Amino acid sequence: MRRVLLQLDPDPQPASFDAIVALDAGAEVVLPYGGVTPENVVPLVHGAIFTRGPQQLHHTAIFIGGSDVSQAEAIAQVVQNTFFGPMRVSVLLDPNGANTTAAAAVWCVARHLSPPGPVLVLGATGPVGSRCVRLLAQASYQVKVGSREQSRAQAVVEQVLLHHAQAKLQPVQTSQPDALRQALQESQAILAAGAAGVQLLTQAQWEQSSARVLVDLNAVPPVGIQGIDPQDKATSRGEGICYGALGVGGIKMKIHRAAIAQLFEQNDLWLDAEEVYQLAQRVLAPQSG
Ligand SMILES: NC(=O)c1ccc[n+]([C@@H]2O[C@H](COP(=O)([O-])OP(=O)(O)OC[C@H]3O[C@@H](n4cnc5c(N)ncnc54)[C@H](OP(=O)(O)O)[C@@H]3O)[C@@H](O)[C@H]2O)c1
Repeated sequence: MRRVLLQLDPDPQPASFDAIVALDAGAEVVLPYGGVTPENVVPLVHGAIFTRGPQQLHHTAIFIGGSDVSQAEAIAQVVQNTFFGPMRVSVLLDPNGANTTAAAAVWCVARHLSPPGPVLVLGATGPVGSRCVRLLAQASYQVKVGSREQSRAQAVVEQVLLHHAQAKLQPVQTSQPDALRQALQESQAILAAGAAGVQLLTQAQWEQSSARVLVDLNAVPPVGIQGIDPQDKATSRGEGICYGALGVGGIKMKIHRAAIAQLFEQNDLWLDAEEVYQLAQRVLAPQSG
């Protein structure tokens, strides 16, 4: 029986990237659907769960992607509600690559910062940054949640507290130089998850900070943290250990492929940010950076 992946994408044109990764990761047939909405997804789910017997349903799985994270999450909710009893298939959520990218970025921080210390996340309000905050919080890191606007940082803090009530989170308005300087002084790691092509930190700023681990997810010049090369992967620069966007990207791809492969091992997995990070910890050997 062939391993079939339904690729559900809210965008009009489903992402070829996600289809190719799925095929490389062991899916034998990928069925890409674009323009998927919470209103039209139920028949697709019924097609997935009613075509094979419960013992064979691990040969079918669902990937939910697309560029609109909140739309993908709304679709995921309907998918989950459509399953019942043994009539379910495993699901991976990775809209905007946010879960696999955040898992890779947090894994890079964690391998150099254990026991957990304070981490400043810049651009923490985007889909990737907010998941980084979530995963760091779950792993008991103190997280400084950076945004140009205090209210946006505060909104992420409140959202993450819904998932992890004990999280130690502090909003930081990075457009206020004093607030940024203090956060840099108090952080042992900096994770920059700002928009593509936006520099968030100069080299002088991070060299004068207390941070010894630097992770930048922006590959588009200028990069997010000046002085980091996109190819950096545990590269020493001054007193910092640096990861650039392409260095993290290779780790992200390993996680993405492993997550797809795992979908076909059983029919009841639900892989969202936290589960993807757990998987990353299992599949990435400590020395593989
Ligand atoms: N390496 C990989 O494999 C990989 C995979 C996926 C994504 N990425 C990269 O990861 C990064 C984060 O992705 P994303 O989709 O979460 O980003 P995003 O939503 O486009 O932006 C993240 C945050 O950046 C801040 N920002 C936007 N424009 C800015 C500006 N002009 N100046 C300063 N800050 C600005 C905003 O925060 P505030 O408005 O709150 O300040 C925004 O919420 C991107 O650079 C993306 O290219 C990398």
